[in-house]
Amino acid sequence: MNAKKVIIDCDPGIDDSLALMLAVASPEFDIIGITIVCGNVPTGLGAENALKILQQAQRLDIPVYLGATQPLKREYVSAQDTHGMDGLGESELPNVTTVRPHVGAIGFLNHTLQANSDVTVIALGPLTNIALALQQEPAAWQHVSEFVSMGGSFHSPGNCSPVAEYNYWCDPDAAQQVYAKMPVPIKMIGLDVTRQIVLTPSLLAYAQRVNPVVGGFIAQITKFYFDFHWQQERVIGCVINDPLAVAYALDPSLCQGFTSYTTVVTDGIALGQSISDTANFWHQPNNSLILTEVAAFRFWQLFLNRVINAQEPELSDILKQLHYTEAQG
Ligand code: RIB
Ligand code: CA
Repeated sequence: MNAKKVIIDCDPGIDDSLALMLAVASPEFDIIGITIVCGNVPTGLGAENALKILQQAQRLDIPVYLGATQPLKREYVSAQDTHGMDGLGESELPNVTTVRPHVGAIGFLNHTLQANSDVTVIALGPLTNIALALQQEPAAWQHVSEFVSMGGSFHSPGNCSPVAEYNYWCDPDAAQQVYAKMPVPIKMIGLDVTRQIVLTPSLLAYAQRVNPVVGGFIAQITKFYFDFHWQQERVIGCVINDPLAVAYALDPSLCQGFTSYTTVVTDGIALGQSISDTANFWHQPNNSLILTEVAAFRFWQLFLNRVINAQEPELSDILKQLHYTEAQG
């Protein structure tokens, strides 16, 4: 089977980091580059964190590129309250010294898309890099094979306002432009599905039992995130949004949804809200696949098998013991 060429645009970030861990552990992917956007943390810090994850996975062969350092128009607002000042849960892991990030994420995206016709782009942060790349070389994006975006929300409440999810709230202008210009349907992995993917203390305990090194690393970078979720949302555990976008790119049967025309609000009280016109009021062509249902049991089977090497039948037995049922899909 030929591996799928993938570029991951991200803002690591704790859940971005878990997503990168899943991606590098998946032989279906040929990760040709990681591009960093300002989001959870400033771009330079995000690049350092991506390198830390690649070093932990012994994949420093994958190049990391620095992208936009601020949104297209809005003032940049990080999510360091959620991810820690270092972006990895105040774990204060040492920087990688043997490899440095490259400059030129936008050029890398466009040159790679221009030269290949089978590249999947998975965006896990604000869409600033993607919007800038589309502005600079729209023709290159005619070659993109698939575009998956973690962001937005259909009927689930926002996490930055009653209606806005962080990635599209941080740079709503970029999100609106990407939804207007992307030549392939945008597969939107929004809060409707990601909120169903909660790394709980029990799942974390299982991960540490099965793989003390990787499980311990996950515990180290998620402790801060657990505390945030309890303080802010009275959730025991942490919602891990980005790994679901990667898992969906690996196995689209994990999520179900509907096609629609979607746009993003760029000002006013609903700034950053993604709006999907399911009743076709605006008579615009469909530009998105909005995912609203997720097979959580099968997501955890995939994630835990790839990231901590959990094996069947124990893995399914533990998931059932933790009240995950195959009926959940
Ligand atoms: O709203 C959740 C999204 O915003 C995730 O991608 C998280 O990493 C942040 O980028
Ligand atoms: Ca992210």
